[in-house]
Parts: sequence; structure tokens; C-alpha cells
Amino acid sequence: MKHFLSIYDHTKEELLEIFDLAIKIKKEAKVKNYIPYLQHQSLGMLFEKSSTRTRISFEVGIHQLGGQGLFLSSNDLQLGRGEPMKDSARVMGRMIDMIMIRTYEQKTLDEFAQFSGVPVINGLTDKYHPVQLMADYLTMIEQSKTENPVVAYIGDGNNMTHSWMMLAGKLGFELRIATPKGREPWQEIIDDAKELSDISGAKITYMNDPKEAVLGADVVTTDTWISMGQEAEKEAKVKEFAGYMVDMEMMKLAKDDAIFLHCLPAYRGYEVSEEVLEHYADIVFDEAENRLHAQKGIMVWLEGHRNKDG
Ligand code: CP
Ligand code: NVA
Repeated sequence: MKHFLSIYDHTKEELLEIFDLAIKIKKEAKVKNYIPYLQHQSLGMLFEKSSTRTRISFEVGIHQLGGQGLFLSSNDLQLGRGEPMKDSARVMGRMIDMIMIRTYEQKTLDEFAQFSGVPVINGLTDKYHPVQLMADYLTMIEQSKTENPVVAYIGDGNNMTHSWMMLAGKLGFELRIATPKGREPWQEIIDDAKELSDISGAKITYMNDPKEAVLGADVVTTDTWISMGQEAEKEAKVKEFAGYMVDMEMMKLAKDDAIFLHCLPAYRGYEVSEEVLEHYADIVFDEAENRLHAQKGIMVWLEGHRNKDG
């Protein structure tokens, strides 16, 4: 049995298998051919943080695969009143076939996976957002940006940055990360990315100048400066990130046919200008839709491995 807790845990071949499945399932869904790969199965969706895309895409995704989604908010569960995560995991694993979790610490997710007895999917932690990266790369495949792309990530060194680092490290593409001083990715992730790059040939570089990162890039991407749980830091962070907004002037430094990606929600006037978001809206909202298709690929792939591995 396998889980989907981080990109780091999977081989390049496994990731490519998931993309192939997602592309096939998307093609079928586009002609309303919803094949019940997960008929009668239940997906638990446990949220300790807010969500629009993750909740909708998983709930609709499992439904289109012939199963049922259960939205489980920690506010309403005994978990929110102190029932241990490992007990919640064992209870859910007895009744539910697959579980997606959005939580704070990666170790909470790891503990859940250790006790659940069923495949667990990371729906975002403070460390990683791997399902988002699967949708982002699916969008890059559709936009033909996958052969040796140069990706520039501008902004906060956060769960999205870390996930880009893992994906670049596994697939072997160039990733330039521009953050303000003191907002770099975590050192343990930098170390892991280096280990992966030594194998895959990825080129991952870190800088403080966003213009340097964007120069000649194929893909420019960013994320909110204030991740969930960091609301108290807003005033200080907004000052630190002056000059890091992706605007049209910055996009002009990238290749002429460069694309802009954003995991959303976007905060216009902060990490991205209104003009950039609207100019690239077709791609950004394809990216949002691809959450649905990529995650269906992940769920079907996990189910295939449960049968294979017993
Ligand atoms: N991108 C993303 O995960 O969006 P939600 O927080 O709305 O799920
Ligand atoms: N970095 C953001 C991503 C939201 C999808 C957060 O963790 O809030």
C-alpha cells in the first residue's frame, strides 16, 4: 500500500505514471465518460484549515470515480475536542477507503498515515502541498512547458516553494527561487533538493533578486506571502516583500511565450498584480481545474497499488 504524502517519497517513474493516468482520466471526463475506477469507495477529507479548491476537487473527483466523499472538519470532529490523531486515524481507517488530510505539521500527517491502515493523501501541510504541484505540472504538460523548462518562483519560501523544489529535483528541471533574505526555503528541504538534483541533474538556485530569477524563464509562479496560520505576521511580511510582486514589468523579463501559474487564492496587489492575474487567467484557471484531474489520477494510482501490494 502506498500513500501520497510528499513528492520526495515517489520516484520519477511513479510521478510520470500518475500524470499519464490524470491525462487519460481528464480526456474521458471531458466527454462525460466517468469510469467508476473507485466504485462504492469512500474518501474522507479531513480539514484543519480552510479550503475552496482542495475540498471541491476531491469531493467532485471521488464522486466522478464512482465513490463518495466525506467532508470532515476538525471543528466538528472529536479531534477538535482533543481525541488523539492516532485514534481518529484508526477509527477512520476501519470505515473509510482513502483519506485526504489538510493540517499544519507534516508529522501529524505522517502519524495519521502510520495508524490509518488505508492510503493517505497530503492535502497541504506547512511543509508541502504536493497535490497542487501535480496539477501545476499537468498544466505545464498541456502548455508544452515540460522539456527542460526554466521555472522562476518568486516570493515566500513556503510549502509551495518546497513542493516545487521536490518536483524539480525529481524530474530534473531548472528552478530559480527568489525570496527576501530570511524567507528562504527550510534548510532541510534545501538539503533534500540537493540530494535529488545530484541524481536527476536538476538545477535549483536561490537568490534575492526576483528579476534575476525571472530572466528568460518559461514559467513564472508565486504564492501568497501570508500562508494559513501566519495572519499575525501580515504587516511585517508585507514590508519585507516590497518589490516581489509579479507584475507585467517582471513578466516582460521572462520568455515572450512564458506562462504564469498561481495555486490560488491570489492576493492582487501583493504577490501578483491584477493585470498579470487577468492576463494569464485562462492558464491559471486551467491550473485550478487540473486539481480535479490530477487528484483523480493520484487516487486511482493509489488504489492500483493497494491491489498490487495487498
Ligand atoms: N490551492 C489550494 O490548495 O486552494 P484551497 O486552499 O482553496 O484548497
Ligand atoms: N502557502 C499557502 C498555500 C495555499 C493553497 C498556504 O499554506 O496557505
